[in-house]
Amino acid sequence: MRIAVYPGSFDPITNGHLDIIERASKIFDKVIVGVLRNKNKKPLFSAEERVDLIKRVTNHLNNVETASFDGLLVEFAKQHNANVIIKGLRTVNDFEYEFQMALLNKTLNDECETMFMMTNSMYSYISSSMVKELAGYKGNLSGIVPDEIIQNIKDKCKQ
Ligand code: COA
Repeated sequence: MRIAVYPGSFDPITNGHLDIIERASKIFDKVIVGVLRNKNKKPLFSAEERVDLIKRVTNHLNNVETASFDGLLVEFAKQHNANVIIKGLRTVNDFEYEFQMALLNKTLNDECETMFMMTNSMYSYISSSMVKELAGYKGNLSGIVPDEIIQNIKDKCKQ
């Protein structure tokens, strides 16, 4: 069984992330979305809330599971019997950091391969920070994040 993890902060999940998850779910038998709990940036949504939002928008994908994690990504992958890490590349700016992370993770666990997917060009400009900024200015989030979570983001940004 080919199992992959797709890690990130997902604060919150965007259509760019969802596009990667949907495409990966067609390639792998199982995709585990890993939500990093421990973050230097203070998240807007708690880890539980981020997991819940992802579960809602991936409900139609029966080989996708979501869980939060702390600590090393390679350990999370091992716990879930995954030997592939999926990362999305949006622009060339993502490359250097992702290249370093992939090499570091490979050093930590030689059995684990990082595979990159090119983000759909429609979403290459999206980031979770941009979504939060836009929501803070009451901007239109449709087409940027899944429709079913727009109200949650608006409500959170009002608090
Ligand atoms: N569509 C839209 N946005 C995307 C995207 C896509 N396909 N891919 C990435 N992004 C955005 C993210 O939303 C994020 O935006 P933000 O900075 O505004 O929050 C940004 O691009 C960076 O994404 P990413 O590089 O995936 O970082 P991340 O913070 O979401 O996740 C981890 C980083 C969790 C993968 C990484 O920190 C990790 O593995 N940590 C565990 C500890 C570890 O093992 N470290 C390595 C060894 S020390």
